Amino acid sequence: MGKNRLVVGCQWGDEGKGKIVDLLAAEADITARFQGGANAGHTIVVDDTKYILHLIPSGIIHSGKICAIGNGVVLDPFAFKEELDLLVERGIDYTDRLWVSPATNLVLPYHKLIEAVEEKSRETANLDTTMRGIGPAYVDKVARQGIRVVDIFAPDRLKRRLEYQRVIKDKYLTGSDDERADLERTYHELIKLTDLFRTMVTDVSLALHKAFKEGKTILFEGAQGAMLDIDLGTYPFATSSNTTTGGALTGLGIGVRMIDEVVGVVKAYTTRVGAGPFPTELVDDLGEELRRQGDEYGATTGRPRRCGWLDLVFLRHVVRINGVDSIAITKLDVLDDLPAIKVCTGYKLGDRQLSQVPLDLAELGHVKPVYTELPGWLSDTTGTTDFGALPQKAQDYLNFIADDLGVKIRLVSTGAKRKETITILT
Ligand code: GDP
Ligand code: IMO
Ligand code: MG
Repeated sequence: MGKNRLVVGCQWGDEGKGKIVDLLAAEADITARFQGGANAGHTIVVDDTKYILHLIPSGIIHSGKICAIGNGVVLDPFAFKEELDLLVERGIDYTDRLWVSPATNLVLPYHKLIEAVEEKSRETANLDTTMRGIGPAYVDKVARQGIRVVDIFAPDRLKRRLEYQRVIKDKYLTGSDDERADLERTYHELIKLTDLFRTMVTDVSLALHKAFKEGKTILFEGAQGAMLDIDLGTYPFATSSNTTTGGALTGLGIGVRMIDEVVGVVKAYTTRVGAGPFPTELVDDLGEELRRQGDEYGATTGRPRRCGWLDLVFLRHVVRINGVDSIAITKLDVLDDLPAIKVCTGYKLGDRQLSQVPLDLAELGHVKPVYTELPGWLSDTTGTTDFGALPQKAQDYLNFIADDLGVKIRLVSTGAKRKETITILT
């Protein structure tokens, strides 16, 4: 029986979770996604083929392995169907190996319409969301007025629930000529998906428990990153779900003992797409250089990602709130050409020195980073598969991070491809 691992993003998303989950999925029987929705974009590169997954767990590329979507996810059924069709086009057969929890809330076209209106009219700054309807769908879930996968199988109830949306979302829907406001249309489109969902709907919590008892290995896949967590991230510049370890428990209906190891994915520098505080952001040529070297453009929206130095202060917070045991450090190769590399090891807020994220996260927008500068290694690490073969200065950089955070390094990624990986812990 292998270890049941949980993979979580440690920054603001796009750390390279897709690649890491794909690698670890090779050793697991089941990969289970627990939160978020089609706001995620998880990239996997196998030889010369690139896959970008949004809703489907990143274990799907391994033939014969089971993938599960838990109740904590918000699932856009139409985006899901498109993603499935794309997989089939690329020769990936998902028959009998995809489970969807009946308790999963749906993201429906009107959620995107509402988001488009709300994003324009916020009194605070625009949140710069992915516009995938995530926030409005989670609002409905928490307000106990959402429509769930199970409702698709009860057409009368589905119709009633959709009609109720017209009542509660009157100001967005009545009189709108946007087709996303057409609930009749949504109803008919949903009914067409009944057979598809019937083949997948599974009590995910129960099925995972059964698999666990049988000694199967389960990999839990997080989306986004800890700093986007709705409770513990940079609120309100966050997503609407718990992206951290706790989200896996409630988003799949599993107990804490089912997780043996929490693997945090840390990009070797920091990126953020969308609005919100980012203390180590580089708004100069160097930031531009990191974006170019790292090809930092969103996998879902294509938006340029903001780039900056690694921030150990918020990573300490992230290791603590997730109970991170080991880390996978990605995109080391992107730093290859830099003569010097800075790492943020403290913050200054006015006269105060801070070594931890301030409790009032709004203060994060006002802190000044205190840096430790490390020498760059100025040589090509792309594709390196052996830690000992890395330049000493690159090893020092990695060890500096692990020592500060008090965690072990499980993997180092030295390129986008599956093979471009150093495995440290087996
Ligand atoms: P995720 O959302 O955390 O799965 O990450 P994304 O897929 O959105 O973004 C990570 C990007 O970095 C993708 O384009 C990956 O193919 C790429 N990538 C992952 N690991 C590495 C690496 O070690 N080096 C380089 N150069 N690219 C990487
Ligand atoms: P993966 O799983 C990076 C960001 C958005 C925005 C904020 C809220 O690929 O790492 P939302 O649409 O969720 O309401 O947007 O969160 N965001 C992400 N940034 N990677 C992601 O997912 C993200 N999902 C959401 O840019 O700032
Ligand atoms: Mg991504």
